[in-house]
Amino acid sequence: MVESFRIRPAVQADGGFLGDMVVEAANWRGGGARPRHEVISSAEHSRYLTGWMRPGDTGFVAEDLRGEPIGAAWYRMLPRSEPGFGWVGTGVPELIIGVRPIWRAHGVGRALLQRLCESARAQGFARLSLSVERDNFAVTLYRSEGFAVTQSGLGRDTMVKRLR
Ligand SMILES: CC(C)(COP(=O)(O)OP(=O)(O)OC[C@H]1O[C@@H](n2cnc3c(N)ncnc32)[C@H](O)[C@@H]1OP(=O)(O)O)[C@@H](O)C(=O)NCCC(=O)NCCS
Repeated sequence: MVESFRIRPAVQADGGFLGDMVVEAANWRGGGARPRHEVISSAEHSRYLTGWMRPGDTGFVAEDLRGEPIGAAWYRMLPRSEPGFGWVGTGVPELIIGVRPIWRAHGVGRALLQRLCESARAQGFARLSLSVERDNFAVTLYRSEGFAVTQSGLGRDTMVKRLR
């Protein structure tokens, strides 16, 4: 199959698009979606975005062949005092991923996830974590890429991938 998208490292100017992807992740169920401003100004979501990109932030953006962003995956290290949904410990970055609706189920998410994991491994991290609502099909993707559930909360699981 001819690749109809490509993946590049994220840069500081991608902050707005990453915001869009946080909104996609928060609204994955569709339906009565929360408005963008409400999601990205909420404490639990803004912590994945504030000050992008600060030292230690790493991400990748998928683009269509016209150069339009269609998906992104990134990780950042959050402090114990301000943990993300999938915080498992100091020194373990937490990842976020989102793909624009019309591009889903075309392999973009898996390609982004693989690039991000390779990058985390190359940077010397031992683990990567994430949080996912248990009924999101993304769980299947994460499992197939080597993530395993380490903690179960109310409707939501924390998953971790060992990188070495
Ligand atoms: C989750 C998400 C990032 C996956 O990206 P994607 O580009 O759609 O995923 P891919 O096409 O790479 O598919 C990867 C796997 O997911 C599963 N999958 C994809 N679409 C699916 C669907 N509609 N229903 C069920 N499983 C599906 C398949 O197991 C697929 O594996 P395959 O390669 O064997 O077909 C994307 O769908 C998305 O942005 N969803 C909304 C936001 C979200 O839920 N973010 C994650 C929050 S934790």
